[in-house]
Amino acid sequence: MKILFVIGSLRSKSFNRQLAEEAKRIIGDRAEVVELDYSDLPLINQDIEQPEPVAVARVRKEVADADALWIFTPEYNFSYPGHVKNLLDWLSRPVIPMDYGTPTCINGKRVAVSGAGGKMATANCRAKLTELLSFIKADVVAEQTGIAVPAEAWGTDVLTLTDEQKSQLKAQADALIG
Ligand SMILES: Cc1cc2nc3c(=O)[nH]c(=O)nc-3n(C[C@H](O)[C@H](O)[C@H](O)COP(=O)(O)O)c2cc1C
Repeated sequence: MKILFVIGSLRSKSFNRQLAEEAKRIIGDRAEVVELDYSDLPLINQDIEQPEPVAVARVRKEVADADALWIFTPEYNFSYPGHVKNLLDWLSRPVIPMDYGTPTCINGKRVAVSGAGGKMATANCRAKLTELLSFIKADVVAEQTGIAVPAEAWGTDVLTLTDEQKSQLKAQADALIG
């Protein structure tokens, strides 16, 4: 089984990346984990949808080839970051002009959502991301992991998870792997 990780933060010391690294350790040899590089995606623009830009085709193929996606994202202003929305907007669009009948690469794809952020533990971001993913017909995993980054982590740049949080991640990994 191949799981594609989407890291929703571009920050070099990202807590969400650290959360993803812990999830990878928890998955172990139960699945192959690959990180999706979507840094070269253009901003969504209907003028450039066809022919499919090279970066868009590559990202869509990586999504299509994966058995599941796991998104780790910070919360920006009670929602998900714009670049995560941009990625999902590209994934949601038909490859053939005006063809809304052929499934897109995200249709039916199993997707798990986790987030590390402020004291609400990305609850608003995860709720809105779940709504968006459901709208674009992804198969969203009910189990989620929300981490409220402890204040001291901002001094060290290190996110240390509690045993309970690791158990939550494991339950989510189990649900994703099935
Ligand atoms: C534009 C912007 C808006 C933010 N809004 C929120 C927010 O609404 N809720 C929250 O918990 N954190 C918010 N934050 C803080 C980040 O979510 C927090 O710093 C998080 O740890 C960043 O994740 P990262 O370490 O993976 O980069 C915001 C940060 C930015 C840059």
